[in-house]
Amino acid sequence: MKPLRIALTKGRLEKDTVALFEKIGFDCDAVKNKGRKLILPIGDNQFEVVLAKAADVITYVEHGVCDLGVVGKDTIMEQGSSFYEILDLGFGKCKFALAGEKGKNFFSGYSTKTIATKYPNIARSYFESKAMDVKIIKIEGSVELAPLLGLSDAIVDIVETGSTLNENGLEVIETICDISARLIVNAASLKLRKAEIEKLVELMEREART
Ligand code: PRP
Repeated sequence: MKPLRIALTKGRLEKDTVALFEKIGFDCDAVKNKGRKLILPIGDNQFEVVLAKAADVITYVEHGVCDLGVVGKDTIMEQGSSFYEILDLGFGKCKFALAGEKGKNFFSGYSTKTIATKYPNIARSYFESKAMDVKIIKIEGSVELAPLLGLSDAIVDIVETGSTLNENGLEVIETICDISARLIVNAASLKLRKAEIEKLVELMEREART
């Protein structure tokens, strides 16, 4: 049987996931000494890890070229989901928040507000739930720059420690929701390789809790 393929979000979530796999007892040396390789074996060659950007983890799992994926709830919420989200891994914890300049009342006045964000869909549905008409501008990174440069009235972004906001004279106006890393699975894989996937999920769930 070919190994189960698991797509991992490169960076912070990759480190936490590898730590979880090691707690389970899987050999992760190949991933830890990967060099520039992108597909790596873990465990007893039962699994293969694919390192990808968050949005691509979802694409690979949706298309079934990876059976499972580890990705943040932020990317799942932004991109939609035609896969199963089967486990909250409990790491990669942060929040989505509306943030703006310290001491400024964002909600005052009648003019249409401009919001900068890496997550236009989340920002849109958040303001729709408030029945507020806003203009959304997509930014690719360091979204905190937009209000500082005068491009937007506020941002919708991820806040982890709060230091990026703090060091740039910004503050949370309202928390939107909590985020953490999730284990996702392709619908067909879950049917075809049910026993193997369930066994892995059980091990990950048990170790994620301790
Ligand atoms: C995220 C987020 C904030 C920062 C928040 O950016 O967009 O900028 O982390 O973290 P903090 O509350 O601990 O300061 P990331 O580091 O992923 O980089 P990016 O802005 O280039 O996307």
